[in-house]
Amino acid sequence: MTVQKKDLLTLLDSSADEIIGMIKLAKELKEERYTIKNSIFSQKTGVLIFEKPSLRTRITFETAINELGGHAINLESQMVGMGKRECVEDVARNLERWVHLIVARTYSHSTVEQLARYCSIPVINALTDTFHPCQAMAFGLTLYEKLSFDKKRNVVFIGDGNNVCNSIMALCSKLGFNFTVVCPKGYEPDPVIQKRCQEEFKKSGGSLTLTNQMSPSIETADVLYTDVWTSMGQESESEKRKKDFSGFQVNMDTLSRAQPDILVTHCLPAHRGEEITSDVLDSDHSIAFDEAENRLHAQKAIIVNLLSFNNG
Ligand code: CP
Ligand code: NVA
Repeated sequence: MTVQKKDLLTLLDSSADEIIGMIKLAKELKEERYTIKNSIFSQKTGVLIFEKPSLRTRITFETAINELGGHAINLESQMVGMGKRECVEDVARNLERWVHLIVARTYSHSTVEQLARYCSIPVINALTDTFHPCQAMAFGLTLYEKLSFDKKRNVVFIGDGNNVCNSIMALCSKLGFNFTVVCPKGYEPDPVIQKRCQEEFKKSGGSLTLTNQMSPSIETADVLYTDVWTSMGQESESEKRKKDFSGFQVNMDTLSRAQPDILVTHCLPAHRGEEITSDVLDSDHSIAFDEAENRLHAQKAIIVNLLSFNNG
């Protein structure tokens, strides 16, 4: 596997080979979960710092570190007070003296960038306002299992051009898929990130389409992806967003217009009845819980990948 970076902050920093290598490794780690004793992280400690709530990310990172033979410590971000009690640089400079990995969920993307810049140990972005690369890796693994990568796929993201959308877009740009964002006017992904992904789509042979209309992209989609309309930190905009996104729900009507074998997913947590209806999320088309399961395996592969860079 070609390893290029000390950290995983965004998939835009990884090559297609590296992403595919990590997905294949994740699949192997999943298959051998209960048969091989893994000690790659033995005698090592990973620290988890979360400025925002989490179920999936926190549990899967803790489990991943433990199953790789290491030890995980959860830091209460309020106790640490990154940028308040102590500057981010000094938090990084201290942590590198004791532990071997930092997993951080922060509001500002620049916080994880600063952590990475000021310490010599790997830093993994566990979600920022801008990116959620671990989610995209779990999606990549799930797609690989369900559809394989033997042909160009059409991935349609319905909803807000947010952190999850940015990371799915980055993944698709690297893998040469066709990616469409269907969103209300004004909720498109950040133009700077779009531009960066466009360069990757050009190289990989995939495409990026932005539209405010469900048709015709949903009719030709292989996968529909959605996420909450109001992300963590945007709660004051919730009522406005409910109105603005009202025509962008993924429901049975959406599915009736799609291909019969359409797959639907969501990063979770879902707001059932808002961006997605329960009958869709609980249907046979839904791969959302498979994707949640794959967070564990994808993140193990990310850790193994980063350790091989840092030890090599
Ligand atoms: N999808 C995801 O990251 O879930 P959590 O916010 O619960 O970690
Ligand atoms: N876009 C959502 C993703 C949660 C996993 C948020 O940032 O709240």
